[in-house]
Amino acid sequence: MTEEKKIIFSGMQPSGLITLGNYLGALNNWTKLQNDYHCLYCIVDMHAITVRQDPIKLRKQAKELLLQYLAVGLDPEKNIIYYQSHVPQHAELAWILNCYTYMGELNRMTQFKEKSLSHADNINAGLFTYPVLMAADILLYQTDLVPVGEDQRQHLELARDIANRFNGVYGEVFKIPEGYIGKVGARVMALQEPTKKMSKSDENKNNTIALLDEPNVIMNKIKRAMTDSDNEVRYSDEKPGIKNLLNIYCAVTGVSIESAEKEFTHAGYGVFKKAVGEAVVAKLQPIQQKVKELEKNQDYIDTVIKEGAEKAGKMAYKTLQKVQKKVGFPTRVR
Ligand code: TYM
Repeated sequence: MTEEKKIIFSGMQPSGLITLGNYLGALNNWTKLQNDYHCLYCIVDMHAITVRQDPIKLRKQAKELLLQYLAVGLDPEKNIIYYQSHVPQHAELAWILNCYTYMGELNRMTQFKEKSLSHADNINAGLFTYPVLMAADILLYQTDLVPVGEDQRQHLELARDIANRFNGVYGEVFKIPEGYIGKVGARVMALQEPTKKMSKSDENKNNTIALLDEPNVIMNKIKRAMTDSDNEVRYSDEKPGIKNLLNIYCAVTGVSIESAEKEFTHAGYGVFKKAVGEAVVAKLQPIQQKVKELEKNQDYIDTVIKEGAEKAGKMAYKTLQKVQKKVGFPTRVR
């Protein structure tokens, strides 16, 4: 990793089994960026506790997520891969940035509104200030680019606003990050309800394809995906189910929407769904195999975890120190 390379930061919550949406919207793009950028890929466990988590399950999911980062091809020699909770500077910067973020801005966040409805019994302050922690994640590393799915666009905008505001007061402290949202796969929809996004926290497991679903489970879920009754494979907003399957097919195969439409227009939904299922299975099977191999190598995993936190911590400390100085905290005596 050379100094001139631009910096990328992104993260994923270990709040459930990661889905094809997470893979196509984020992970798959991350692997493509690792050779050209200096990348940090974080497992954002601190974000996950904004909704109640079973501690045993959370720890297990965080480890599974790390294995999946590695299994999709993220190389820990090229990227910094780590757990957010192992680098305390995230929380420290988030506190400071909280003091530069307005209630009104946070009140406008769509995800906060949605989660307040789905977790009405636990609308905690962390859920409200979640986007500030996300801004801290990004700004700590002087990030140039943030590869995410479409649903994170609003949070990213807020991170930019906070950075601009802070820089406006104190000078050029933070780099202003840009979003990197892929053309295909940026918004994978729920299979049974193709007007809402596929989400790892969906209770209806037929709505999601988990990265680790068995091939027959994947085939069945796609077979049962909601479509319409005209049996014509065409990319249109009026056909959200078919549009979603076409997006998935094209994202996993690399084929363009136009060629896929041509290939399947008259094939009928049965044939089309089978082809989509097979393409997804072909993409996910090697990843699943790799996860199984990695599970046997705890020493290696421990090294990745330790080294990732050390490398991230060093970078994070530099920015945090600068920020603390700017806001007027006393210099540490060493
Ligand atoms: P999370 O954990 O919900 O999702 C991780 C990544 O997957 C993308 N994604 C999708 N993409 C396409 N279709 C979908 N159906 C779909 N569902 C999820 C998300 O856009 C995301 O890129 N707040 C973030 C985690 C985070 C973060 C950060 C991201 C915390 N700090 C700093 C970037 C930078 C989140 O909850 O992602």
